[in-house]
Amino acid sequence: MKTPEQLKTAVDKRRTFAIISHPDAGKTTITEQMLLFGGVVREAGTVKAKKSGNFAKSDWMEIEKKRGISVTSSVMQFDYQGKRINILDTPGHEDFSEDTYRTLMAVDSAVMVIDGAKGIEPQTKKLFQICKMRGIPIFTFINKFDRDARDPLDLMAELEDVLGIQSYAMNWPIGMGRGLKGIYDRFHHRVALAHPEDGEDPYIPLDEDGEIPADNPLHEDSIWQDTLDEIELISEAGNTFDEDKIATGDLTPVFFGSALTNFGVQTFLETYLNYAPKPSAHKTEDEQTVEPLSPEFSGFVFKIQANMNPNHRDRIAFVRICSGEFDRGMDVTLQRTGKSLRLSNSTQFMADTRETVETAVAGDIIGLYDTGNFQIGDSIYTGKQDIKFEKLPQFTPELFVRVNAKNVMKQKSFHKGIDQLVQEGAVQLYTSYSTGDYILGAVGQLQFEVFQFRMQNEYNSEVVMETMGHKVARWINPDQLDEHMSSSRNILVKDRQGAPLFLFENQFAENWFKSKYPDVELMSKL
Ligand code: G4P
Repeated sequence: MKTPEQLKTAVDKRRTFAIISHPDAGKTTITEQMLLFGGVVREAGTVKAKKSGNFAKSDWMEIEKKRGISVTSSVMQFDYQGKRINILDTPGHEDFSEDTYRTLMAVDSAVMVIDGAKGIEPQTKKLFQICKMRGIPIFTFINKFDRDARDPLDLMAELEDVLGIQSYAMNWPIGMGRGLKGIYDRFHHRVALAHPEDGEDPYIPLDEDGEIPADNPLHEDSIWQDTLDEIELISEAGNTFDEDKIATGDLTPVFFGSALTNFGVQTFLETYLNYAPKPSAHKTEDEQTVEPLSPEFSGFVFKIQANMNPNHRDRIAFVRICSGEFDRGMDVTLQRTGKSLRLSNSTQFMADTRETVETAVAGDIIGLYDTGNFQIGDSIYTGKQDIKFEKLPQFTPELFVRVNAKNVMKQKSFHKGIDQLVQEGAVQLYTSYSTGDYILGAVGQLQFEVFQFRMQNEYNSEVVMETMGHKVARWINPDQLDEHMSSSRNILVKDRQGAPLFLFENQFAENWFKSKYPDVELMSKL
């Protein structure tokens, strides 16, 4: 066990964050550069190779192999400049799931990567909104400036207009694409050259007026004057650097660069680490706060990953440690059941391996091998005080399927499987009022595939799923419900708690309903 001083030193070093982006913006590339700085991988391409499924040492579940999703890189830990960094993966594409959202509940800050040619894309926006809701600091890296990109001023404006967050440019590109000369680093008061000559120092300090030395070839380049004009413009018309606003997620520091050519990434990481928060207090359901330096251990389960190793049919519960220290073999109370559990089988995730973890502290993520004890959102703790962390938010599903057992004789295993997987948070379950049909809801297609796979593998129940496609889910006050409101353009269902909701065909159907029943309030969440 650590002394209080040792615990403080260890916790203060932790920086736990997620990188959010739309697929292809460069999240994998930038993660990999960071791992290179941390000395975790020695070669560029290691994480990427895994992503594309070329990695030989794989023990992922079949479906993941097929899709090339790397589960071992769900959490990556490394040390850099005296800090212990935990990067949590937020998968993109069809791998997008409720887990992706929940992962953001386990981090203390986020890095948002944006493709400089595309600007803000839909998935970035969705993930951003969760970070915003949590009020955590968000740092922005606008990527791919080694290619032609959009006007930086436009991109800055888009952050404010589309995401509604103030922005402060920490640096500014000097040209772009083939003409990218470097980056004007407002924060370190220097220019970083994109293509330094052999042996040339890539960092050129600026004088008090922000000018580059007159003997530098850039001094006479028209692009330099353009850059200075733009810097003047953003200095006068833009926001000021405000640490308090960064801390509350009201202002995002913006960096331009190129992950692929590793230009601007290191400065970004170092500056980010300066401002990224250390683990902070977590709220409980009864409005108490749990401080990270509390001597008692506590944490919550934010993700359950099943079948990481198909030979062992194991499940791993990912726990964010909120306070104190974890020691392998310790006994904790599982809040939901009040039962005591010994945590002897634990793991931690490095970029390319999983290793048994002996100790970890607040801010860290550990994986607990689970034989069915845990559910998503569970709190665990040591000590006498009952700790129940705030509920993880529910995310409104957008995709729906009707589900049945293929073999009607196997109803028992079908129901058991559905019950457990729904409890675990793998998918949402609804029941049709009129037919009693089971309908599953998810935010990403992969959730259904994982569900189908696990039903077969873990419960020996083959399921048939009939796609219902996108729907708009809207809850309704039960007192206002009249079953006649159901029409061909919507389906009336109840959720797991018995609360009624409509699944509308589309926005048009919802609007039509609203005009027909103006007094009925439709809610996107309960
Ligand atoms: P993701 O994880 O956000 O989905 O993106 P990823 O890093 O996989 O990058 C998506 C594509 O964009 C990759 O190209 C990658 O090489 C490229 N890319 C990432 N950062 C930059 C950058 O700073 N500049 C430029 N020009 N390209 C960048 P790909 O062709 O899909 O893959 P690959 O064949 O290069 O591996």
